Amino acid sequence: MSKKSADRRQPQTLPRHVAVVMDGNGRWAQRRFLPRTSGHKFGVDALKRLVRHCAEIGVPYLTVFAFSSENWSRPAEEVQTLMDLFVKALEREAPELARQGVQLHVVGDLTAFSAEMRGLIAQAQALTRDNTRLVLNVALNYGGRWDVVQAAQAVAGSGQEITTETLAQHLALAHCPDPDLLIRTGGEHRISNFLLWQLAYTELYFTDLLWPDFNAEAFDAALADFAQRQRRFGGVPDGKTRAAA
Ligand code: IPE
Ligand code: IPE
Ligand code: MG
Repeated sequence: MSKKSADRRQPQTLPRHVAVVMDGNGRWAQRRFLPRTSGHKFGVDALKRLVRHCAEIGVPYLTVFAFSSENWSRPAEEVQTLMDLFVKALEREAPELARQGVQLHVVGDLTAFSAEMRGLIAQAQALTRDNTRLVLNVALNYGGRWDVVQAAQAVAGSGQEITTETLAQHLALAHCPDPDLLIRTGGEHRISNFLLWQLAYTELYFTDLLWPDFNAEAFDAALADFAQRQRRFGGVPDGKTRAAA
């Protein structure tokens, strides 16, 4: 992988949290006259490569969109293949993630999943709980609107006042800083109900590469682009604040 380029990178320009919309599996397969579902299988390999790379170069938080709350509308066979892939990946990859020092979180509305799958998720999370090298969030049956609503319901249920802070404390990614960089593969320029609240000041990066083709080099290109961005958060370029002016 690109250890060399990682060594040259300035730590202050490395994003702390990268979010990824892993899009384009179906088209990748169709271009090879394969069923869409085989694109998802190769997509799992691309994710494994990315996790390893992020751990190597020191990105501390990675959040990937694996199945949206709208993806249930796909043909039953495709949904079933995806569920089978998630189960297999949880079974096979949890020990490997643990070995790599990855702390796994599956985020989304998990009530929709089978007891078997919920059990595997709980096991994998427990196995990796104490790891600190890379926090990996896999968004499954996740929707940004669902997230805001469930957080608002949790705050209201607790009797607290709804504020920016109390709401953020109940969102699915309350254990992470907001993403610095969002990468979407597959050529579409949209959010598709991913992290609506958390992306408020995230830098957006789109690539036409289809997800199964995404690799360390493509990720490093996104990081290089991110390093050139000037983030202002509503302020002015030189970083002066009102108090300091
Ligand atoms: C992303 O690839 C994976 C999931 C949404 C599960 P797609 O399956 O959306 O691939 P395209 O966009 O149809 O090519
Ligand atoms: C977004 O991709 C969801 C995931 C990558 C899991 P979609 O393929 O579902 O998004 P749309 O339908 O093109 O907006
Ligand atoms: Mg798609």
